[in-house]
Amino acid sequence: MGDIRNILILTGAGISAESGLATFRGPDGLWEGHRVEDVCTPQAFRRDRALVQSFYDQRRAALAAVVPNFAHLALARLDAAWPGELLIVTQNVDDLHERAGATRLLHMHGELMSALCLACGARSRWSGDLGDGPACPACAAAGTLRPDIVWFGEIPYQMERIEAALGRADLFVSIGTSGAVYPAAGFVQQARACGAATLELNLEPSAGSAWFEETRSGPAGALVPAWVDEMLAR
Ligand code: OAD
Repeated sequence: MGDIRNILILTGAGISAESGLATFRGPDGLWEGHRVEDVCTPQAFRRDRALVQSFYDQRRAALAAVVPNFAHLALARLDAAWPGELLIVTQNVDDLHERAGATRLLHMHGELMSALCLACGARSRWSGDLGDGPACPACAAAGTLRPDIVWFGEIPYQMERIEAALGRADLFVSIGTSGAVYPAAGFVQQARACGAATLELNLEPSAGSAWFEETRSGPAGALVPAWVDEMLAR
């Protein structure tokens, strides 16, 4: 790797696995016992609102029982110390990056701790349940809040900011993601086209591994702190 000033880091469910949160594509192909299309689409929400609200209410409540792991903490350390541009783009809807202390962070697939109002479009911080139809803090309409999650068929958040950061990146690092869901799965090709070095840190080779110049296999809790140490020693 040559001179590195600007870093873009993409994270996925694998970075939170060692905190005890299930990844999406486990060996049984289910997410917490559900088919992804039964809980992660606008159609599913229209078909069975109570099921989808209750599913995300459980995921939100589960966050209280988990803590950031060594990988989240190492990225927060890099974020605090890195003098160049740095952006952590997470596909995760948990809040473990920010609880570890990361600040240069965006949630492209939304957040469990946020509610989206179908009436006024406001996004409000949310820590309780949505299933009992609470009023929107912004417009006061009742029963209009849905999980602020980007479901299949919806457009991820802040794509322009991500594209701009990809264009400026000297290094693109992908951590704990299967490379199965676009547009995030295509970031490595975009980064390469703009001249960035590319590195994958994942438990096992992913669907996109062949696109990376370097791939390291192992648990994020070990690989990420070691890589951060390397970066800060440069
Ligand atoms: P996946 O469940 O598809 O992939 C998780 C990846 O993490 C796999 O490649 C695992 O091998 C790897 N992994 C598991 N444990 C690990 C560990 N301890 N250390 C390092 N890697 C580990 O999750 P994502 O790629 O994040 O979208 O899924 C992408 C999107 O699909 C999600 O954001 C979600 C889902 O549909 C939405 O909810 C909108």
